[in-house]
Amino acid sequence: MAGKIPEHFIQDLLARTDLVDLIESRVPLKRSGSNYMARCPFHNEKTPSFSVNRDKQFYYCFGCGASGTAISFLMDYDRLTFPEAIETLADALGLTVPSEQGTGPGNKETAAATLPLFAIQDQACRFYQQQLKSHPAAQRAVDYLRERGVSGELALRYRLGYAPPGAHNLPAEWPAGMLDSAGLRSTKEPGRSHDWFRDRIVFPIRDRRGRIVGFGGRIIGDGVPKYLNSPETAVFRKHCEVYGLFELLQAVRRPERIVVVEGYMDVIALAQFGIPHTVATLGTATSGDQVGLLFRYTQNIVFCFDGDMAGKNAAWKALESSLPHLREGRQLHFLMLPEGHDPDSLIREEGTDAFLARINAAQAFSEYFFEHLSKSLNSATIEGRAVLVDKARPMIQKLPGGVFRDMIEQRLEALSGHSVQSHGVVPDGSRPPRRGQSETATGRPSALRTFLALLLQNPQLVEHIDSSAASTLAQLDHQGALLQTVIEFLHMHPHISSGGLFEGFRGRPEAGVIAKLLAWNPQVAEGKVVETFLDHLRHLTEDQVRENRLDSLIQKSRREKLTVDELMELKQLTVH
Ligand code: UTP
Ligand code: MN
Repeated sequence: MAGKIPEHFIQDLLARTDLVDLIESRVPLKRSGSNYMARCPFHNEKTPSFSVNRDKQFYYCFGCGASGTAISFLMDYDRLTFPEAIETLADALGLTVPSEQGTGPGNKETAAATLPLFAIQDQACRFYQQQLKSHPAAQRAVDYLRERGVSGELALRYRLGYAPPGAHNLPAEWPAGMLDSAGLRSTKEPGRSHDWFRDRIVFPIRDRRGRIVGFGGRIIGDGVPKYLNSPETAVFRKHCEVYGLFELLQAVRRPERIVVVEGYMDVIALAQFGIPHTVATLGTATSGDQVGLLFRYTQNIVFCFDGDMAGKNAAWKALESSLPHLREGRQLHFLMLPEGHDPDSLIREEGTDAFLARINAAQAFSEYFFEHLSKSLNSATIEGRAVLVDKARPMIQKLPGGVFRDMIEQRLEALSGHSVQSHGVVPDGSRPPRRGQSETATGRPSALRTFLALLLQNPQLVEHIDSSAASTLAQLDHQGALLQTVIEFLHMHPHISSGGLFEGFRGRPEAGVIAKLLAWNPQVAEGKVVETFLDHLRHLTEDQVRENRLDSLIQKSRREKLTVDELMELKQLTVH
């Protein structure tokens, strides 16, 4: 999605969405006082510590600290990006996401046009599925699938279908323009269009939300091309999608690892043999986008390629695409199959356990990396080791800075006997400086912390802060600036919920502190909230007024002699 999403639209979405309903539809909630509780979906636990508050439109987990709004929940639970989460909420309300900047004329059109594109892909998929069942020519397809060991259940899970022979099978009443832009019809020669897929078994390709973005079509038996994919369209970008991800996530919500294979049939065969953790690239080299996408769902990617020359090249290419995405905690493994085999043929030959054993024994990134680089050189010689450093260094530089990169650099040093770590003494800025003590490190919660938390958790309390109090609070040494920003924001957004406030600060420097305070329990009885807040408000402002007075008296005393009264006052203020 191009352009920034306007803030008012985000606020509107949050105001119209009910967080309790949204979460309830995914995680069963139990009412408990003014909260709804569940076992936390973000960590393993026996007793519920995940709480959702309808008034605040905010959730948090006492156990693991997960917290946020409808948007963050969709991002973390459904693993969506921010714009995707917004789109999902908008879809549910029947709204279209507007774009803030006038990002070119084409933009609105695209947003409006993609929805029918998804719809027509889905209709096409249903059509093909139906043809597989009922078209007179479909028997060959059914036999072929059966012969290759694809069960009816798997065919259904992957929504396999059949595109019949002949130029025009898709229903004539479907708008021609739509068929073209969905890539379902070939328009190479004007006036002589025909269905894109003819006499092929079709494999719908779904995005991570389950929407069909395109198809792969296999010829039945031998022929060229063996596979034909949908052309690139507004919703289908081969480099950004992988085959089988949606189906995988349906079967395993939090895959410990994801195995990347080369073919559609490999994905289906492995799933058939009880290994649903598999996706395939779409006949292209593995791209950085695909790796980034997969790392959103797992910490461990296993590339499983054929043992031939093409497979080896594909593996090295996948490694290169992965470099910028590697960091501590993320793992990459490489598995080369015996020549002449692909995962489909191998698992059918040797069974699930043997295949799993291969996956478990896959080579780790660092081993594969250095082994591959050292292969053609003699590391016993200085020359050989110098070449190794030369080849490795630019690749290592693509790794994000951090512990992982340090370790790879150390390994290269050990192998080459040469210091390679970021030459020079100038820090590269990739490591943030260690922060000082956090503002919350003192034992008892300060009045200010409680006050801020109460305000954030009950935004309507802002009505008790008049402009003079607001400007006094803004002078508070600690968090004065934050208070001022929050108060101004709340004055501009009357009736906002805590969740709305949280989203209003997404991406801003204050977001971290606000999240912490929203998730923190200030231990104030529900009936005492307003009273406590007003108490703190009075104390904080009085303290600050006193502080200001003291300050001005001290300054004055430096310039001129204070009066007796002033001296008395100063004494009183300092004693206090
Ligand atoms: P393979 O030829 O290894 O496919 O191509 P496969 O899945 O093992 O095919 P089967 O087992 O004979 O059915 C791997 C992938 O490369 C793409 C497809 O995505 C395929 O799954 N490909 C292959 C094409 O796009 N076009 C082709 O003509 C061949
Ligand atoms: Mn195959």
